[in-house]
Amino acid sequence: MRYTITAALPYANGPVHIGHLAGVYIPADIYARYLRLKGHDVLYICGSDEHGVPITIKAQKEGVTPQDIVDRYHNIIKDAFKDFGMSFDVYSRTSSETHKRTSSEFFRKLYDEKKFIEQESEQFYDSKANQFLADRYITGTCPKCGADGAYGDQCEVCGSSLNATELINPKSAITGNVPELKKTKHWYLPLDRYEDFLKDWILEGHKEWKPNVYGQVKSWIDSGLQARAVSRDLDWGVPVPVNGAEGKVLYVWFDAPIGYISATKEIRNDWEKYWKDKDTKLVHFIGKDNIVFHCIIFPSMLKAEGSYILPENVPANEFLNLEGDKISTSRNWAVWLHEYLEDFKDQQDVLRYVLTANAPETKDNDFTWKDFQDRNNNELLAILGNFVNRAVVLTHKYYEGKVPEPQPNAFTAFDKEVIDELPIIKEKIEKNIETYHFREALKEAMNMARLGNKYLAETEPWKLIKTDTERVKNIMYIALQITAGLSQAFEPFLPFTAAKIRNLIQFDVIDWNLIGQCNILKPEHLLNKAELLFSKIEDEQVQAQIDKLQATKVSNTMNQFKAAPQKELISYDDFTKIDIRVGTIIAAEKVAKTKKLLKLTIDTGIDQRTVVSGIAEYYEPEKTIGQQVSILVNLAPRELKGITSQGMILMAENADGSLSFVQPNTIVKNGSEIK
Ligand code: 2FM
Ligand code: ZN
Repeated sequence: MRYTITAALPYANGPVHIGHLAGVYIPADIYARYLRLKGHDVLYICGSDEHGVPITIKAQKEGVTPQDIVDRYHNIIKDAFKDFGMSFDVYSRTSSETHKRTSSEFFRKLYDEKKFIEQESEQFYDSKANQFLADRYITGTCPKCGADGAYGDQCEVCGSSLNATELINPKSAITGNVPELKKTKHWYLPLDRYEDFLKDWILEGHKEWKPNVYGQVKSWIDSGLQARAVSRDLDWGVPVPVNGAEGKVLYVWFDAPIGYISATKEIRNDWEKYWKDKDTKLVHFIGKDNIVFHCIIFPSMLKAEGSYILPENVPANEFLNLEGDKISTSRNWAVWLHEYLEDFKDQQDVLRYVLTANAPETKDNDFTWKDFQDRNNNELLAILGNFVNRAVVLTHKYYEGKVPEPQPNAFTAFDKEVIDELPIIKEKIEKNIETYHFREALKEAMNMARLGNKYLAETEPWKLIKTDTERVKNIMYIALQITAGLSQAFEPFLPFTAAKIRNLIQFDVIDWNLIGQCNILKPEHLLNKAELLFSKIEDEQVQAQIDKLQATKVSNTMNQFKAAPQKELISYDDFTKIDIRVGTIIAAEKVAKTKKLLKLTIDTGIDQRTVVSGIAEYYEPEKTIGQQVSILVNLAPRELKGITSQGMILMAENADGSLSFVQPNTIVKNGSEIK
């Protein structure tokens, strides 16, 4: 069977993070590796999506060209994917010449065959910048929630989808100018004409698709499909290849999926059989935000073109959150792949494991560093690593590293039970991968390691070696066959680890059909020296990552800080009524049964007095003693938790709500006036 597997082309306006990996690239890679192992003809396609407005906006902000931006991120993404073991057959990019040609020709064919509608509409135009403003280039007040800074297509505060013309006080993000409405012509794909085709093909023909995908498609179709513009007024993208279209480019979502085809062309002269032959299965791996583009718009484009196959499946995943919060590139709330690879050298498989075990297949899921550590230490290391290590170490100990000769007629009922279980596990892995249940599939592969552990724990060869050496030969023989099976079964999921296991057992064959067999390694076959497959992840490593995220949170809060507006004016006389002095804290204790209050004794130079202050969350009582503070001494006394507070300490409130003392920058006499 022939398969064309695509993984959503990541935008080249930022690096790739764990959300992308868990949602798209790891499942696609498992699937592609598995099918190759099964001997299928597989092309696994990816590349950078290098057009679209976010890229031009980023370029403008940084004062560089869009090409600079995409060159930077294309290389970061490509290198990180390579280090991470993504087995793409090609990682291309949509700024390539092949892609320009391919997407132009595609558009041109549809244009010539009158598959588009040409329509004029009024769109915002910035006369200062001399250009039409794409949605993201217009900001204004959200008509739904009143928040400032909403974009022409969406308000990020309330999440509403908007039309640019709905914004209150719209402004150009380029010049700040108030934009005017101006007529412009665009080409539209009339999706309504494809409604019947989509109903038949997906709603009737693909009821087996994942419920999240099927459900989203159904609700789009049920609410009525409308024509979608496939061109934009922009100077970054593939030029619209018709006369009278100067200054217009293909809409990024028109050209990007054609990028899969262009990438295939770049590596295969016989590319057509991967895109046009009815025997080829096309599978798109994407995140849930891409469903409409891959299940409705792109298939309608393919259908309109006429010579292409349609996807067999579109197994979209839900989203992964990070430490309870939505992953966000703009807020830097992410674990970036290229940074992970630096911080956790040679531990690609730990991340592959955690993100597969916790994949957001049916609902949004959360990644936490604690779970990452636990899964490494308690699962990878304690189950898989431990079993393989024991099998190899004991073989060296008892047989100088050589596979012992078994006596199959002396296999016990338990031996047979374990041996019989192996092909059953293999089948479960297969069934789960083939139905896109990668979490379950991985669990089954781990069950094979669990079975190995259980087998050794129950047969206890380390005890029997003293009394029944023949029996131990059978046990170790079986344990080594399980190890060899694991070196194949983990190849799709943890390719680095599978290769390490094959190296340990000096076995370089990769063949899925070996799994479940009990004669993979022949007697006398020599193993390599034992080496650990996984190392423990220490608390400090995990804490460093949590600290990094915490620092991001703090800096985000700081960046969002907006000074409160000035209060009403007061007269000079009012001001002179305020008596603020420098004082020194001479005693401090927590106020019982409160979280926030400290009872302070302050030498004000005038007297020693008690002040109750709400700073307990920011200051340990002992650490305040000896500190000079500013104290409002003529504030009328107040009763707080049964204590009379005589005055108030001045505090500066930071963006994150934390408080710090307002202090003179040299020591001054207590009682000095603050004027
Ligand atoms: O959502 C995204 O990251 C898009 N760049 C995906 C494009 S997929 C395909 F159509 F190219
Ligand atoms: Zn809003």
